[in-house]
Amino acid sequence: MTLNFLGLIFFPLLVPALLIINNALASDPDIIYDYVSPQNSSVNGSFFTYTGLRGVLHQIPQSFKATKVTLVEFPALNGQSISYALFQYPAGSINPPHIHPRAAEFLFLVSGSLQVGFVDTTRTLYTQNLQSGDMFIFPKGLIHYQYNPQSVPATAISAFGSANAGTVSIPHSIFSTGIDDVILAKAFKTDTYTVKKIRSGLNKP
Ligand SMILES: *[C@@H]1O[C@H](CO)[C@@H](O)[C@H](O)[C@H]1NC(C)=O
Ligand SMILES: *[C@@H]1O[C@H](CO)[C@@H](O)[C@H](O)[C@H]1NC(C)=O
Repeated sequence: MTLNFLGLIFFPLLVPALLIINNALASDPDIIYDYVSPQNSSVNGSFFTYTGLRGVLHQIPQSFKATKVTLVEFPALNGQSISYALFQYPAGSINPPHIHPRAAEFLFLVSGSLQVGFVDTTRTLYTQNLQSGDMFIFPKGLIHYQYNPQSVPATAISAFGSANAGTVSIPHSIFSTGIDDVILAKAFKTDTYTVKKIRSGLNKP
């Protein structure tokens, strides 16, 4: 009785409280400054400028290449809840299935064409063939990939709703981290020979 009575009083309070907590976890934490400057040093316009992508577009990579601009590369992003990545896809290359645990990804295809897809929590696959100029949103925390099926390179940039979105590569997180062969064989309903074969394949360029 007592518990139910207390529950009746507190439940209406608890729901908004949980919603607030949920909202707070939905993005990077807010800062109480305009920006986060390096300790004990004053900043000028250069602090807010990133030049690390100069020339990158002129280099044609041999395999899929992601160049990230997160708070690691560009400290001024700290506290601003945003980051970028530049993607270069040679003909036939893929960005293998992966997850960004801390942010949605908003991709803009600058040139070429891409097949993109993500899988939601009901295991429904959503795919699209993008042409240059198209944009695609990968919802936060869901497995997604990109594939350039054409014989010409493709280039895309993505914005992320976090200064440090994080990347969990599905193949490497599972097969390149030392999880026991027996466990993986059972998980994938196969044998340890196949698990070893996948492992060694992933280590090739
Ligand atoms: C920053 O300045 C404070 C006060 O002037 C000083 O105590 C502290 O050691 C400085 N920290 C660094 C990393 O220089
Ligand atoms: C801006 O700050 C950087 C690093 O503190 C310094 O090297 C540079 O000379 C400054 N630029 C100007 C125009 O003051």
